[in-house]
Amino acid sequence: MTQHFDIIIDNIGQLLTMDHRDGPLKGKEMSSLPVLEHAAIGMRDGLVEWIGTHEEAQKLKATERIDAEGKLVTPGLVDPHTHLVFGGSREHEMALKQQGVPYLEILKQGGGILSTVKATREASLEELLQKARFHLNRMISYGVTTVEAKSGYGLNRPTEMKQLLVAKQLNEEHPADIVSTFLGAHAIPPEYKGRSEEFLKEMLSLLNDIERENLAEFVDIFCETGVFTVEESRQFLQKAMEKGFSVKIHADEIDPLGGTEMATEIGATSGDHLVGASEKGIQALGATDTIAVLLPGTSFYLNKGKFANARGMMEAGAAVALSTDFNPGSSPTENLQFIMNLASLQLKMTPEEIWNAVTVNAAYAINRGEQAGKLVKGRKADIVLWDVPNYHYVPYHYGVNHTHTVIKNGRIIYRKEKLHDQFSTH
Ligand code: NIG
Ligand code: FE
Repeated sequence: MTQHFDIIIDNIGQLLTMDHRDGPLKGKEMSSLPVLEHAAIGMRDGLVEWIGTHEEAQKLKATERIDAEGKLVTPGLVDPHTHLVFGGSREHEMALKQQGVPYLEILKQGGGILSTVKATREASLEELLQKARFHLNRMISYGVTTVEAKSGYGLNRPTEMKQLLVAKQLNEEHPADIVSTFLGAHAIPPEYKGRSEEFLKEMLSLLNDIERENLAEFVDIFCETGVFTVEESRQFLQKAMEKGFSVKIHADEIDPLGGTEMATEIGATSGDHLVGASEKGIQALGATDTIAVLLPGTSFYLNKGKFANARGMMEAGAAVALSTDFNPGSSPTENLQFIMNLASLQLKMTPEEIWNAVTVNAAYAINRGEQAGKLVKGRKADIVLWDVPNYHYVPYHYGVNHTHTVIKNGRIIYRKEKLHDQFSTH
């Protein structure tokens, strides 16, 4: 072969290609993991061009050659549920949390999501863009190359549009891929208090502009006590589907209302959270194509001692994905690796299930199953080299960042500084 590659990574101890059959992995399928040992991967013009053995790679030419030193290489991770764009932050609520004031009570008092709404309405587009870029860069450093981003801190036309524009602009200027979701139905703003029906109508009226300007692919709603009921959510999402949007739902996050069943009934792409999903809901996930996007970081941070029943869902045959739920209130972290640790400890998921849940299944949860989450010839070269000896290691060793090099579209976009580079002058 006389091909010349842009980058070759050789001497890979384990290469997770995730080269499974097409479609999200359901139930037992989640325990299989395509791994190549002593492998190498070559990329050119932004795409994966060649996968083979370390020995074969020695005969190939490349502009840049990365020695993986026997470590782990995987596809770039996919984070399928984030609230990336928002103003302000909520550290002032920590004391309330410590006093035991529940999340929904803080919201009821006009804090929580509504405090972020105020800050987001007050922020300029440029300010929101800068802040979202900061958080996105941090996600990249943790190995994430594709991110879903929701609006939902405007709850009125100008600010919802502003948030969606920020996500669109970021997608255009930043190497990461961003998939946008309209979450105008995230809470009821003070000016619509007691008038949820009118508010939902107002939010639906934004969909024509959102579609015309290509500002979101998905529509989402927060189905929860004191926010939107299951029936309101069903009707809202069905109308969005009639307009051609795919839908997601924040379901059974805190109280078990039955949003999981509803998500499967209407054919939602994903049901997210599902901590309080009923047995019926869990069985329905197994029987349908709705992907269970689990967010154990939120269970951890809300500190209620209850996590989603991931094992039950997989036993029922469901496809499970994992996500940070990055947001300023219930899960302020960009670190998807920590979520992998929680999935291991609290959801009792195996390393194989966890890697499938943050790559292939996460990609399908945001309609990117054919573009992201796998390393196969012809796909975008979104690749992470990890500073770990094997794939079991990342879900095990918690609280630190294990990435070494992150490549997006065949370009290195993050590389860990070596300690001796920083301190060599002393
Ligand atoms: O997924 N529950 C609703 N939305 C977010 C939290 C948003 C916030 O607290 O700002 C969630 O938990
Ligand atoms: Fe969320």
